[in-house]
Amino acid sequence: MTQTGKFITLEGGEGSGKTTQIRLLQAALSAAGYSCLVTREPGGTPAAEHIRNLLLHKDAAAWDDVAELLLFYAARREHLVKSVWPALAQGNYVICDRFSDSSRVYQGVGRQLGDDYITTLHRLTLGDFQPDLTLWLDMDVALGLGRTQGRAEGGDETRFEGQGRSFHDRVREGFLQLSQAEPQRIATIDAQQSIASVHASIIREVNHRLGLNLQPQEV
Ligand code: TYD
Repeated sequence: MTQTGKFITLEGGEGSGKTTQIRLLQAALSAAGYSCLVTREPGGTPAAEHIRNLLLHKDAAAWDDVAELLLFYAARREHLVKSVWPALAQGNYVICDRFSDSSRVYQGVGRQLGDDYITTLHRLTLGDFQPDLTLWLDMDVALGLGRTQGRAEGGDETRFEGQGRSFHDRVREGFLQLSQAEPQRIATIDAQQSIASVHASIIREVNHRLGLNLQPQEV
């Protein structure tokens, strides 16, 4: 694949505010004249959204851990081939809500499948493709889970919120370790600040790391 656009991913634990921040980052890129695709994982194409449903719907099966990982990667491969890679090849910025770091952390560390497993599967299915920049929205685990409670009650998706505190502590620790192992790719954002401050931090990192001159948007 010849890539000319930039692939930016947002990662974080439950309730870290990715959706709001993605909308603001998209607005900043658009205001500066860049064309931009916003997408998410699992999902982003009709077939991958079907897989999302199999994984996250409240009536979804209790998948075996390895089967769950394979479904995340099946959705990911489909999403990249049909949507993300073509958009990048046309020079677009692509902002993705979660990507393979979520598998490394939720399945690798949370489910304890181990990093080698995910790294090997990643290489087999996606080669050495990685984001140009990953923004990790870091937040206290209890605070994040508290924020998700309201929305979970009305929603159709059983996310990973019910997994219990130790699972989510492992998830945060996993992201911390990844960010320390790959500081050149992963920027840590303190997601406990106000929405406007988190947005300003994101704009600073994107400008600095991708050589842009975006302006923060009104919140
Ligand atoms: P998301 O819709 O981002 O949920 P939230 O808004 O609660 O962050 O992601 C759906 C869930 O899927 C989330 O709990 C994390 C999980 N997930 C994995 O376990 N592995 C993965 O590879 C991905 C992409 C998501």
